[in-house]
Amino acid sequence: MDFPLVRMRRLRRTEALRRMVRENALSPNDLIQPLFVVPGKGVKNPVKSMPGVAQLSVDLAVAEAEAAWEAGVPAVILFGIPDKKDDEGSSSWNHHGIVQEATRAIKKARPELCVIADVCFCEYTDHGHCGVIVDGDVDNDSTLENLGKQVVSLADAGADIMAPSGMMDGMVAAIREALDENDHDHIPILSYAVKFASAYYGPFRDAAESAPAFGDRRTYQMDPANAREAIREAQLDVSEGADMLMVKPALAYLDLVRDLKEEFELPVAAYNVSGEMAMVEAAAANGWVDRQRIIMETLLCMKRAGADLILTYWATEVARWLTK
Ligand code: PBG
Ligand code: ZN
Repeated sequence: MDFPLVRMRRLRRTEALRRMVRENALSPNDLIQPLFVVPGKGVKNPVKSMPGVAQLSVDLAVAEAEAAWEAGVPAVILFGIPDKKDDEGSSSWNHHGIVQEATRAIKKARPELCVIADVCFCEYTDHGHCGVIVDGDVDNDSTLENLGKQVVSLADAGADIMAPSGMMDGMVAAIREALDENDHDHIPILSYAVKFASAYYGPFRDAAESAPAFGDRRTYQMDPANAREAIREAQLDVSEGADMLMVKPALAYLDLVRDLKEEFELPVAAYNVSGEMAMVEAAAANGWVDRQRIIMETLLCMKRAGADLILTYWATEVARWLTK
């Protein structure tokens, strides 16, 4: 069958028809709200390159987490900015570390809310790299030992999901083993399995104060040119025990969201990163795009590509749009 028998516009004629044949929809259940936590009380430091986002002290982060939950968002992911950094990032496994404190406070206020801990060292090291430096580069295996300490400390504080983002080889296995040996075998791992060395992280590094002091992350994060390698990365993480897989950034990498969705039976998350947000906000502030429409389109298309979950700085706001 062909035109003129076939007319695709028949099913687009009214809003009711369009609703009936719509293949994908965004739900608050799909969304994860990132929060940046700093020491202090009543502290709110807006991040210039991320309009609407601020570094928050624990008390205000609890309020934001509660607002996310009230809006229908099931989870937050926490990034910590500690008051002291050292060469190993040891405050990341301190019982009184910033994310540990924030986790305990949020879980106390809203036990039902899922708290995801970003598991990495770049916010905690004085050099800003995602692990221990040996001979000018991140040393993989000593970083794995520290990852074990970090996840046990975070799980002890009540975190519900571990999300390792450092792209170390063997990180998922090391974390699984550390959790299982310490009575945390019920804690799932959301692996940043496919994470690229991307210019889209610029604003985040202001927010998290985690820009590397020398060099870049290209010896551990992936080359944006590679797609087949992404499958290998994901395969390894699955075999090491990952419960969910993440692709990051999202927008320029939606082909990989689709690849992972087709290749594996695990839930797939996409990280709508800071640079993707900043581009939209800047254009919207200039009146060049319709802010709400472009945000909804962007996130919906991540779902269409295969994302089951979306980490986005707009999560709470979007959840309100979806339910109003
Ligand atoms: C670091 C980390 C990064 C992001 C989340 N965790 C960036 C980096 O590699 O510097 C980026 C998030 C964003 O840009 O929104 N482990
Ligand atoms: Zn890192």
